[in-house]
Amino acid sequence: MPLLFLLFACLSGIFQTASAQCPDYSSYSMATHEPLSAGKYQLSYQRPTAECRKFNLSDVEVTIQEMKEVVKDPDLFRLFENAFPNTLDTTVTWKGYSSNDSAEELTFITTGDIVAMWLRDSANQMRSYKSLLKASDSPDSLASLFRGAINLQARYILRNPYCNAFQAPTESGLPPENNGYADTDQVKPPFNTSFVFECKYELDSISAFLQLSFDYYDKTQDADFFGKFQWINAVQTVLDTAEDLLIGTYADDGSVNESPYTFQRQSTSATETLTNSGAGNPVKGGTGLVRSAFRPSDDSTIYQLFIPANMQFSSYLGRCAEIMQAHDAELAQRMSDFASSVRDGIETYGKVQHAVLGEIYAYEVDGFGSSNLMDDANVPSLLSAPILDYLDAADETYQNTRKFVLSTWNPYYMHGPVLNGTGGPHVGPGKAWPMSIITSLLTSDDDSEIVAGLQMLVSSTDGLGLIHESVDTFDASQWTREWFSWANGLFGEMLLGLKDRKPYLLATSFQ
Ligand SMILES: *[C@@H]1O[C@H](CO)[C@@H](O)[C@H](O)[C@H]1NC(C)=O
Ligand SMILES: *[C@@H]1O[C@H](CO)[C@@H](O)[C@H](O)[C@H]1NC(C)=O
Ligand SMILES: *[C@@H]1O[C@H](CO)[C@@H](O)[C@H](O)[C@H]1NC(C)=O
Ligand SMILES: *[C@@H]1O[C@H](CO)[C@@H](O)[C@H](O)[C@H]1NC(C)=O
Repeated sequence: MPLLFLLFACLSGIFQTASAQCPDYSSYSMATHEPLSAGKYQLSYQRPTAECRKFNLSDVEVTIQEMKEVVKDPDLFRLFENAFPNTLDTTVTWKGYSSNDSAEELTFITTGDIVAMWLRDSANQMRSYKSLLKASDSPDSLASLFRGAINLQARYILRNPYCNAFQAPTESGLPPENNGYADTDQVKPPFNTSFVFECKYELDSISAFLQLSFDYYDKTQDADFFGKFQWINAVQTVLDTAEDLLIGTYADDGSVNESPYTFQRQSTSATETLTNSGAGNPVKGGTGLVRSAFRPSDDSTIYQLFIPANMQFSSYLGRCAEIMQAHDAELAQRMSDFASSVRDGIETYGKVQHAVLGEIYAYEVDGFGSSNLMDDANVPSLLSAPILDYLDAADETYQNTRKFVLSTWNPYYMHGPVLNGTGGPHVGPGKAWPMSIITSLLTSDDDSEIVAGLQMLVSSTDGLGLIHESVDTFDASQWTREWFSWANGLFGEMLLGLKDRKPYLLATSFQ
């Protein structure tokens, strides 16, 4: 015991010495650092110094230099230079190997201001570098970071498939983070707080694991990797979990089915807990749609047949069947069949007729006929359907839906002199999320819409040069989350995409 204590004291001493030289990024990202960019908005430089970056990748540095030639506006370039490398610079919190198998890479990617790994955020944080991904065995490569994230997500899902955010792996030596909000949570099935940070069941969390897997395979064609560790078992767990959640509230004989998942939290906010003793509002069975207790904003759903996550699940489950084909043809067939039946459910039960705009996708339905027409900024959203690879942006129902989402028909569309975009109940009315503007540019082919969106993004960082979670549409100095790595990555991905799609727009100047 004394020896262990001494060892612990020594180790923590080392950590303290190393981190003492590097500022905490939560405070660093709230302050302005010279040199400021040379445009009207004089944006702060926000990259940590080279020795304080968490992961170095020369391809990212080369990309930043290439973008400097293409992006003519100095403020827009500064935003890219800060935001694109943000995940690698600040959130690759630990990278190593499994104690169970020394060949199994693990990557612990934190969300930013909280030392926990969200399945959704981390999959999307990695996706922002997808265009640079290529096959490599090197532990210093982007491919290795992806493999490590896939392996760690598989471990999380195998143990707690209903949970959304997780603690650092024991191999890292990092202590579990205390989640004060979760102290009163009553959750079925139970979990261990040393392993799980939060256990809100969101269909998009397990879909994110499939998305991340597909992204790695899509760029590397490395099907072998998926047969080496726990991936196949984790996919089986994903399928079993999602199948259990096809269940309706009532059985045919009128009795109440036991919900496989329940969640209750003591909170003054309705979106932080579930009705009906933690089971949520009634859902009709037999629609083919998979239930989701929470949204990607971590707010509870009103109707559990949440359409955007069903789109994402169907899309990447179908795509991952190709990976599984190399390992287990029967399981691959089960994946393809499930993906198709979810798509049928969306197309049959997930569309409604809007009085003015025609046929649109609903945000949520209950299968009985009720629907919730809205969109929230967090991806998966209805606006993001094309980037979930679910449909083509030219799809007529999508175009109607897009008009709905980006108009005052959407109850969570915010507009004002600072920025126009969708928000959501997570931060509340009056706050638009830059993430929604980025998503609108990723799904737009309209030059004037894209330029107007870039103008809003570059002018609404409060001079800090990073993408915030939400911004007050009437006051740019009122924003939330100084360090939101996913949104930074999504901005980088979007601007990099424009370099290929519409490079001439990057010559625009924003004054
Ligand atoms: C990144 O490179 C810098 C030197 O440019 C070095 O000081 C730092 O330790 C490297 N970071 C990592 C995580 O390897
Ligand atoms: C550890 O590795 C063995 C052999 O690869 C595997 O069967 C087992 O499921 C692994 N356990 C965990 C927790 O990953
Ligand atoms: C909880 O999880 C931690 C980390 O995985 C583990 O060390 C501990 O043994 C677990 N506790 C129980 C009671 O299972
Ligand atoms: C938001 O939209 C309104 C029109 O609805 C427009 O007047 C305003 O300029 C827009 N705001 C920004 C920041 O572009």
